[in-house]
Amino acid sequence: PMQQTLAVVKPDAQEHKDAIIARIQEAGFNIAFQKETSLTEELAQQLYTEHEGKEFYGDLVEHMTSGPSLFMVLSVEDAVERFRSLMGPTDPEVAKEQCPDSLRAQFASDMLKNALHGSSNPDHAHEKIKAIFGDIEFNPDGTVK
Ligand code: CMP
Repeated sequence: PMQQTLAVVKPDAQEHKDAIIARIQEAGFNIAFQKETSLTEELAQQLYTEHEGKEFYGDLVEHMTSGPSLFMVLSVEDAVERFRSLMGPTDPEVAKEQCPDSLRAQFASDMLKNALHGSSNPDHAHEKIKAIFGDIEFNPDGTVK
């Protein structure tokens, strides 16, 4: 199905932004919206509310508020899974081993500074896109209303 997903270039990967955008476009994603901003603590917590209570949660929120991130709404068939596959595994060591062509294999430093985030399912995508971009609407063909 036509879907949207939230893609985030994290603060650690800002120097690779242009290369990452090029890879995303080459892979056939339509970048429907794009916005660069530093997350407030409140928004970072909202983005990662599913991870609240985990031992890395504090470090994660701290990293995500440490500087600007680039937020993109990607619109394409099966956007959620296709972007997760382009990013590769969360752990860059695994990414380098198993998916050497993935963005994290190329641009991630470690588990925390892993360059990118992508929504894990369509419901999350919808919810987090709304938190970052407000109410935006799409046509069934994936174009912006
Ligand atoms: P992301 O896809 O943004 O979703 C949650 C993030 O938490 C994940 O990428 C990692 O950056 C981070 N994360 C997950 N597991 C760990 C871990 N064990 N140690 C540090 N950070 C982690």
